[in-house]
Amino acid sequence: MNVQWYPGHMTKAKRQMQEDIKLIDLIIELVDARVPLSSRNPDIDELGKNKSRLILLNKADLADERQNEAWKAYFQEKGFYVVKVDSRNGSGMKAIQNTIQEACREKTERDRRRGIKNRPIRAMVVGIPNVGKSTFINTFAGKACAKTGNKPGVTKGKQWIRLNKGVELLDTPGILWPKFEDQEVGIRLAFVGSIKDNILNMEELALKLIGYLQAQYPGVLAGRYHISEEGTSVEILEAIARARGCLKKGEELDYAKAALLLFDDFRAGKIGRITLEWRSDK
Ligand code: G4P
Repeated sequence: MNVQWYPGHMTKAKRQMQEDIKLIDLIIELVDARVPLSSRNPDIDELGKNKSRLILLNKADLADERQNEAWKAYFQEKGFYVVKVDSRNGSGMKAIQNTIQEACREKTERDRRRGIKNRPIRAMVVGIPNVGKSTFINTFAGKACAKTGNKPGVTKGKQWIRLNKGVELLDTPGILWPKFEDQEVGIRLAFVGSIKDNILNMEELALKLIGYLQAQYPGVLAGRYHISEEGTSVEILEAIARARGCLKKGEELDYAKAALLLFDDFRAGKIGRITLEWRSDK
């Protein structure tokens, strides 16, 4: 299977990000906790050098907790601040507030030595599409926030969201592009829904996911669909189709429907908390 990505508008997005990064003290980079490496574009390391860096393992609720811990330690070893987050239900938000202060302590100290008081920390959120940037901004900013800066249409100034405790967030996130040099990266991003399904062969993808789950998370498919996990991926997809009554006209099994059902369940966390990239693999 050839998963492709055409980053046509990405040069422009990158230039915009370079400009925005000049205005901020801290980069908050969201990665998908289920695919912490494949959902990063390492170019951000170059773009963001000299800035404080906070990595959020977002969608941590969908990922394997042991792997969440392992990846948290991995990024910390690389010198990033790290927080595990569920942007949908808000868990991790308090830890982020504290970590932002900690990550920017040097800047705050420097300001103080220069006699500058209460200059807010400015941050921006970056990440690949679908990683949860908008959800995070909405949850983190909450209802208590106020937009600052110029009114749209009056001047072309930046919009900042003022959070409590002296933090301002750029209201538009920076979109990073996934790196596709490795086909496996593309496939993992397809598993989590970060590539549009209509350009993919979902049945083929489902067989790959089944193979991975059989090997790394034995028992989860049996638990969800009450089927036997013995056999090939095709036999298991067939068993899922049968168990869930995915039929075409004339009683023929509908594999495409079963594949979509499997992905819906997987992406909603109904099969369990699953990490597709294990730190121990690396
Ligand atoms: P983006 O701005 O980076 O492109 O991502 P966005 O916030 O639109 O989020 C993409 C999808 O991921 C949304 O689901 C969102 O609800 C979900 N999501 C974001 N953060 C988390 C998280 O921490 N945990 C879980 N479980 N899901 C998260 P959707 O199905 O596209 O939309 P919706 O039906 O949830 O609104």
